[in-house]
Parts: sequence; C-alpha cells; structure tokens
Amino acid sequence: MLALPAEGLPVRFGSGLAELDRVLGGGFVPGSVSLLGGDPGIGKSTLLLQVAASVAQNAPVLYATGEESGAQVGLRARRLGLGATGLQLAPETDLETILAQAGELRAGLLVIDSIQTVQLATLASSAGGVTQLRECAAELVRFAKSTGTAVCIVGHVTREGTIAGPRVLEHLVDTVLYFESDAGSRYRIVRATKNRFGAVNELAFFAMTESGLREVANPSAIFLARPEQVAPGSIVMVAREGGRPLLVEIQGLVDPMRFGNPRRVAQGLDSTRLSMLLAVLHRHGGLSLQDHDVFANVVGGLAVRETGTDLPVLLALASSLRDRALPPTLVAFGEIGLTGEVRPVAYGEERLREAAKQGFRQALVPRDNLPRRPVEGLELRGVARLAEAVEILFER
Ligand code: TYD
Ligand code: MG
Repeated sequence: MLALPAEGLPVRFGSGLAELDRVLGGGFVPGSVSLLGGDPGIGKSTLLLQVAASVAQNAPVLYATGEESGAQVGLRARRLGLGATGLQLAPETDLETILAQAGELRAGLLVIDSIQTVQLATLASSAGGVTQLRECAAELVRFAKSTGTAVCIVGHVTREGTIAGPRVLEHLVDTVLYFESDAGSRYRIVRATKNRFGAVNELAFFAMTESGLREVANPSAIFLARPEQVAPGSIVMVAREGGRPLLVEIQGLVDPMRFGNPRRVAQGLDSTRLSMLLAVLHRHGGLSLQDHDVFANVVGGLAVRETGTDLPVLLALASSLRDRALPPTLVAFGEIGLTGEVRPVAYGEERLREAAKQGFRQALVPRDNLPRRPVEGLELRGVARLAEAVEILFER
C-alpha cells in the first residue's frame, strides 16, 4: 500500500543526480523507504546531503543526523557548496522527535543518518541493537506510508557481523542500495539490490572529489588503469553491469601451496563458481591447480555477478600459472559449462563494440557470440571449448 503523493510532489521526484535516479528507477517515490548501505567512510552522508539539498529546492527536507553534530554537517554542506534553503538539519537520535519534526515540516524527504544511531525510547534495548533497528525501521515505514514522505535510511555495514547491520532491514524497505568501492579508489558505485519500483542491479557511478560526489557520465573504462607493460595474470573483460558494457580488469594469481588445503579466494567474484571453474580447467583445459593457492580479483572494487567472467578468470589464472603475459590489447568474455564448453553471453555485439571503442584490438569470445558483421578495429576469435582458448593463448 502506497500513500498518495504528498501535496505538490509528482509521482516521482528527482534526487538531483541523474545516476542515482536511474538506480532508483526514475527518482524517489513518495511514501517509499530506501536503505543506503555501505562501509563507514565510503560516502553515504556525502551523497545524501547532496541529494537532500537538491530536493530541498522543491520540497521541505529533514536531515536527521545522529552520526554527526549539526555543526559538522553544516561544515560539510558548505564544503559541498550547498545552499541549503529548505533543508532542515536535526542533530537528533530520538525517533519520535524526528518523526514529529518531519510531520510538522510536511517533509517530502526524510533522511535518517544513520539507523544505527536512532532509537525509540519505548524500547528497553539500546540503539544499534537488532530490536531497535527493526522497530525503528518499521516505524519509519509506517510514517512513510501514512504521510507520503519519502524516507531514506543510512545503514553502516559492519565488518564483523552483518547481524546488526542493514541486512536485517532489507525485507522491510522498498529499495535497497549499496555502495561498492575499493579501498583507495576514488570511484564509488551504488547498486540497487532490491527495488519495488524499478530494476535491480542497476549501477550508478560516482567519483569522490574535493567537493563531494560527482557523477561519472561515461564509466565504461574507469576501472582500467593498467600499466603499459602488463604482467602475467591479468586480462581485460567486457562485463555488462547496470545496463551497460564495462571494461574491467580481472587478475589471477596462482602460487604453489605450502601446507594444508589449497586456498581459493575470490574478490568481486562468486567463490563457489571459482571452485567449479578450477575443476573445469583441470578436466577440460588440461591445467591443474590442485596444489596451488588460487586468487582471483576484479580490479576496482566492482562486484561482477555475471557468468561472462568465467573465461577471463580462467585465462588470467592460466596466464599466472604459465607466467606468460597476455596481450594488453586483448579482451575476453564468456560463460563456461561443466563439460568445458564456452557458452555465449547476452549483449555480445554491444560488448565487442565497446571494446573496440576503448581501443582494444583482439577479442577472444564464445563462438556463438561472434557477430555477423566484423567489428571495426577488432580481430575476433570465436571459441567453442575452453581447450581451444587455452591452446590459442598458451600453446603456440
Ligand atoms: P562520508 O560521506 O562521511 O561517509 P559515510 O557517511 O559513508 O561514513 O564520506 C567520508 C569520506 O569522504 C571522507 O573520507 C572524506 C571524503 N570526502 C571527500 O573526499 N570529499 C568531500 O567533498 C566530502 C564531503 C567527503
Ligand atoms: Mg556518515
């Protein structure tokens, strides 16, 4: 049940950031509740302050900050160059007080930064505990549905236990957004993992700058910062994430195991799938990593959740094992089946065009992904089996 839009607000309203609007499915829905999760320091408050200030130009906005003092948030707003006209700050942790204020303001948007710092005085347990988290979120959902105010909740992802983190709230809210990034990278990705009002797995790309988060309009190759001399264990793949092709570097490292069980570590990739792929590489690619520790990584902190990573992951690992670097102008993608076949992935031609546009010269792809017409500037090799790919790259 969704309340009618608050007066003066359309069925959806923009966040002020086109990238974020896309992830939301076209902007905020009045009366909806969104959860923004992410590691501390990744940019949740920065993003929502920018959004709050933008929305405040058209509707009252209440930004409740239990994380920081009003002065701190005010300082940040100035740093971001935000003229916060209709933006009301509430350095408050008592949820009843916050909701009363938001109601009085007839807020179009209410930001709770963060859910871990607010509490309901009627509950005996302390702020940040599971009971408080759940009850506070439920109260916010009731408030949103009954007033038509869009609510955006910040939730820190805790490293140790996700128990007290935002995951326990996911089923209560309409939209779940997560920040992804690599430590040290200035790029930030916001992904919708749940969306009652739009598509999931849409991605928004930002760069953290001196003056807040800036949208990255053409993100297809921001994860590619490769040196001219490429070392063994690296390959570029064309992924398709968030509705567009993305060039990302996949790295593999294999190292003779010293003792115990071999380690299989996957970053940004499905680790169960990695184990399966290693078995296929052994049986159908003729390369055994049984006595090796294996590490596979998507560079840049992006999590790639599609099977198109299969072939590049194995090629990166084979490259590391053989200590042979792959051509820096080569891209690959493709799914691998249990019988060693290389299966096509969706949007093959679009991926190839993007690779050519970004200056890549050769592509090793599933045979069924070969386009009917050539792609200008790209030398195409289609393979139907993993063994063929291994032979082309490592046996000649
Ligand atoms: P913040 O939004 O406070 O993170 P979160 O709310 O997720 O904990 O972001 C904090 C980091 O962002 C901090 O390391 C400083 C940096 N930052 C910038 O680089 N530029 C800026 O304009 C702002 C406001 C923050
Ligand atoms: Mg914060």
